Amino acid sequence: MANLNQRLLRLWHGGDYNPEQWPRDVWTEDVSMMLDTEYHVATLGVFSWVKLEPREGEFDFEWLDDIIARLSASDRYFILSTPSAAPPAWMSKKYPEIIRTGADRVRRLHGNRVNYNFSSPIYQEKCRIMATKLAERYGNHPNLLAWHVSNEYGGADYSAESATAFREWLKIKFNHDLAALNEAYWTAFWSHSFTDWSEIDPPGGPYGETAVQGLTVDWRRFTTDQTVAFMEIEAAPLRAISPHVPITTNMMGTYPELNYRKFAPYLDFISWDSYPAFTGPMTEARTWIAAAFRHDLMRGLKRGTPWLLMEYSPGSSNWYESMALKRPGVHRFEGWQAVAHGADGVQYFQWRQSRGSQEQFHGAVVSHGSSRTARVYQEVRQLGHELAEWPEVIGSVPKPEVALIFDWESWWALEAACGPTQRPKRYPETATDYYGYFWQSGIPTDVIGMDDSLDDYKIVVAPMAYSLRPGFAERIEAFVAAGGHVVLTYLSGWTDENSLVFTEGFLGPLQTVLGITSEEIDVLPKEATVPVFYNNEQYAAHDFCELIHPTTAETVAEYAGEFYAGRAAVTQNTFGNGTATYVAFRHDDRFLRDLLDPIVRRAEIVHPFPGELPDGVTVQVREGEEATYFFLLNANPHGATLSTNDGEVIHLPPYGVEIRKLAVAGAMDE
Ligand code: GLA
Repeated sequence: MANLNQRLLRLWHGGDYNPEQWPRDVWTEDVSMMLDTEYHVATLGVFSWVKLEPREGEFDFEWLDDIIARLSASDRYFILSTPSAAPPAWMSKKYPEIIRTGADRVRRLHGNRVNYNFSSPIYQEKCRIMATKLAERYGNHPNLLAWHVSNEYGGADYSAESATAFREWLKIKFNHDLAALNEAYWTAFWSHSFTDWSEIDPPGGPYGETAVQGLTVDWRRFTTDQTVAFMEIEAAPLRAISPHVPITTNMMGTYPELNYRKFAPYLDFISWDSYPAFTGPMTEARTWIAAAFRHDLMRGLKRGTPWLLMEYSPGSSNWYESMALKRPGVHRFEGWQAVAHGADGVQYFQWRQSRGSQEQFHGAVVSHGSSRTARVYQEVRQLGHELAEWPEVIGSVPKPEVALIFDWESWWALEAACGPTQRPKRYPETATDYYGYFWQSGIPTDVIGMDDSLDDYKIVVAPMAYSLRPGFAERIEAFVAAGGHVVLTYLSGWTDENSLVFTEGFLGPLQTVLGITSEEIDVLPKEATVPVFYNNEQYAAHDFCELIHPTTAETVAEYAGEFYAGRAAVTQNTFGNGTATYVAFRHDDRFLRDLLDPIVRRAEIVHPFPGELPDGVTVQVREGEEATYFFLLNANPHGATLSTNDGEVIHLPPYGVEIRKLAVAGAMDE
């Protein structure tokens, strides 16, 4: 059974701590309040570069030694970050080339954060030196739980160094064959063919190329790979000097610019920062379904292993459109929700509200005034004490029978495509809609990528799988032939991995398993709908109506309007021992439920709770060696009631959470 770190066998509770912003008498109060709140894990060093190296080559670790000694003396642990997310001003002034160049090809000035040029050899070397110093000094500290490499990697860099690295990346991808690149990018169009590698510039931005989709997607692939390579410059010395200390970096869920799946092999555990939008819809279950989707997306980067919620806000985040307060109970719900989805700890940004600068009004455990009776402090304290009661949960993991495919590269290709609409295409939202059906049904779900194995599942859903990577269609075929049930939707299989439409037309290599071909798509005006009939009920298609032709598939729903009235809107193909369903139109949640319910029954998915769960209530499951844990979560601002298999009625208060434990060989107890 995997653990985040054997040194602390409990659910972790803690978060970002920036003692360098405060005089040392405040540190004394901090440690005392950490004891009071069961705050065991302080994340140190994020953004500490200028304190660690105030002048080039002059290092000062005294303050960090001091706070680590104080924390350790009080039986607190720490995660140590490398400070590379924000270089100090002296470095930017001396070496301006370390600063980021934007998509407008203009180099920025010093300031802000994640404003560095990850391709700069100077910055890379400075980061390598700093990581080495930290590893040498703290790598063997018994209270060090993990390395937190940098902070929230993000964005692209358009400097000359990055452009050169991109050309080298392309040479490797295309095996030094420029003709192959031109073919893959279809550059004969508009005379965009390249005659030398040096002619290729990073695409995009206000002045760059936007008309070559393959190039656009490759630039994003390169940016991911270059970011991973940069991370490795810091991670390599940490790993070499302290091989027993796990390495992680904090990710950002559905952050659109990086393919996080590429980071996972270099990390010992996954961690991420969750900030659901509280601009009003905090009271809507949809907010919590979206949060759950992201938890499972992040968990899916390293399936079957525990992950860490590295940051969430104890209060309101100051960068929201408006700072709605978290309602009483929401904080507890949010923390346990992460645990329900496999987190072995929940951490915050941040411990103490800063008096000044950008995040002075961001929620923190200790608010301005340092009151121990403050509402936020008390809610954190309560959660800390509750988490302390469930150490046995660590190491148990969700083992879903359903997988949803969410693929960054396909998303990029879809966004890069000029058409079939200029309106938002809503890829993550559509994935969340499909995910939401399973959440509401209390069916745990893995969120995986197009390259992942499908072996463990009974149902696989892949909404809007626009651009297919080699091998994906073959894996779907094998999965269905072996008895699996797959559901695909409109806008699937339009292109290969280079954004080239398949020579056999839309759906390409998926045509056989689906038993259909796809000819055209009708994109409806914004508010327009087309009726669809399914099982004698009427539904409405909006946004997209794809026009498909069954070959071997059966039509299970039909359009009932437009010139395509009477044609297939949903098909189902029996293929080997399984079925492949194609949903050709965009629909609402009612249709989704009516479509998926029978598929779930056919697949014999095991429900932990019988019957329908109340709206906004879910059950998530973690399986351990000795027990299975059921997390009952009420995402509503009002109470809810549900029944167990043996007829027991359970009342959940607003945002209520209850944990039920079933011993592996026994009956459910409380
Ligand atoms: C991110 C960062 C933190 C902090 C929070 C505020 O997650 O990693 O440093 O800025 O946002 O919400």
